[in-house]
Amino acid sequence: MDLFTPGKIGNLELRNRSIRAAAFEGMCPGHAAGDSLLSYHQSVAKGGIGMTTIAYAAVNRMGLSFQHQLWLREEAVPGLRRVTDAIHAEGAAASIQIGHCGLMAKRSIAGGRPLSSTGGFNLYGPTFPVAMKENQILETVEDFSRAVNLARDSGFDAIEVHAGHGYLISQFLSPFLNKRKDRWGGSFENRSRFMREVMIKVKKEAGNDIAVLVKMNMRDGIKGGIGLDEGIRTAVLLEELGADALVLSGGLVSRTPMYVMRGKMPTTVMGHFIKNPFMSMGVRLFGDMLMKPEPFRELYFLEDAVEVRKQVKLPLVYVGGVASGEAVTKVLDAGFEFVAMARALVHDPGFILKLKDEKTAESGCLHSNYCIAVMYSGEMACFQDDPSIPEKWKKSLGASAT
Ligand SMILES: Cc1cc2nc3c(=O)[nH]c(=O)nc-3n(C[C@H](O)[C@H](O)[C@H](O)COP(=O)(O)O)c2cc1C
Ligand code: SF4
Repeated sequence: MDLFTPGKIGNLELRNRSIRAAAFEGMCPGHAAGDSLLSYHQSVAKGGIGMTTIAYAAVNRMGLSFQHQLWLREEAVPGLRRVTDAIHAEGAAASIQIGHCGLMAKRSIAGGRPLSSTGGFNLYGPTFPVAMKENQILETVEDFSRAVNLARDSGFDAIEVHAGHGYLISQFLSPFLNKRKDRWGGSFENRSRFMREVMIKVKKEAGNDIAVLVKMNMRDGIKGGIGLDEGIRTAVLLEELGADALVLSGGLVSRTPMYVMRGKMPTTVMGHFIKNPFMSMGVRLFGDMLMKPEPFRELYFLEDAVEVRKQVKLPLVYVGGVASGEAVTKVLDAGFEFVAMARALVHDPGFILKLKDEKTAESGCLHSNYCIAVMYSGEMACFQDDPSIPEKWKKSLGASAT
C-alpha cells in the first residue's frame, strides 16, 4: 500500500497513512497551549501529515509531571481550539494524547504526593508515590472520560489514550510496577481493570465523532514486566473494548526509558539543559547508570508488532525507528494501516512531503536524542546543531545512537 492512500480510523478519514507520534512538546506555559505549540503542529500539518498528535495532556492536576505540560481542562480549551483550527486549515487531522503520569508526578506541580497503583520509592523522579485508594481510581476514570469531551470542545478529531510507557494505566497493567493485592492487582484481569474502566467510559463519551486510539506496550522491556504474551492479550482486549486503532510501543520511562526510543541518552547534554545545578550534576554523574542505552536500529519494534498484527484485525499504527521511505514501505507492506514518526518530524516537520517527492527519501535525524535530553527543561526541537552544545560532547556521545 502507498503512504499517500487515504485511510480510516473509526469514522475518521485521514488523507494519508502518516501520523505524527505524540512527542512531548513542552510548549504549554501555565499548562495551556502556547504559540509555539500551534506553530509546530501547523508546520507538521503543512508538511503533509495525515494526523498530528498533541502529546501528553494530563487528565487532572495530579497527572502532571512538568511545568510546561498541557493540562486538559476548561481553561485550556480556547488555546487548543486555535491549534486544531490551524491544523485543520492545512488539511490534516488532529489528535490529543490523554494520560496521567502517576508516580512521575512532581509534588510542587501536581499539588500532592504522586499517586500510583503501588506506593514506594521511584528513583527516577525521585518521588515517593502512594497507592491509590478505590475512590481515587474511580475519580481518575471519570477524569479520562471528561477529557474526551474537552478534546471534542477543543476541535480534536481523535484522542489517544496513553496506556503504555509506564504512565498510570501502564502502572496498573505492569506486574513489575503493580504489587496490589486487591481487585486492581494480581492477575491480568485485575491489572487491566483500570484500563478497561477507562476504555468503557472513554468510548461512551467519544460516540461516533471522536476516534479512539490507544498507545500500549507490547513489552515493558524489563524482567518481571509485561512480555509479548501479555502485550498481545492487551491488544486483543483493547480490540474487544472498541478501540479504533492501537499504537504499538514498549518500555517504562521510569525504569527502561531508552527501550521506548532506543539509542543512548546524551546525559551530558541533558545536564547542560537542566537549570537546577544539583539535578544537573546528578544527571551528569549518574545518568548513564540510570538510563541504560538500548541499541538503536531502524524499525526496532517491527518483529513484535508483526506478532500483534497476527492476533487482531483493527487498524494498527506502527511506531519506532521509522526514518526513511524504505522503512515506511516495509511497515505498510507488513500489514500495518498507519505509520507514525516522532524524531523524523522533530528534525523536519516537512518530511512527509519529501517522501511524496521522493519515495526513498531519508530523514536527516541522527538519533542523537538531544531532543529527548532537552524535554525535561525546555521546548522540544531538534538540538543536533544547537551552537550551545560543544562539538566534543557530540563526538564523545556520538550521534550514532548505539
Ligand atoms: C522528544 C520526544 C518526546 C516524546 N514524548 C512522548 C510522549 O509524550 N508520549 C508518548 O507516547 N511518546 C513520546 N515519545 C515517544 C515517541 O512517540 C515514539 O514512540 C518514539 O520516539 C519512537 O518513534 P521515532 O523512532 O519515530 O522517534 C517521545 C519521543 C521523543 C523523541
Ligand atoms: S535532536 Fe537528534 S534525535 Fe532529536 S530530531 Fe534532532 S537529530 Fe533527531
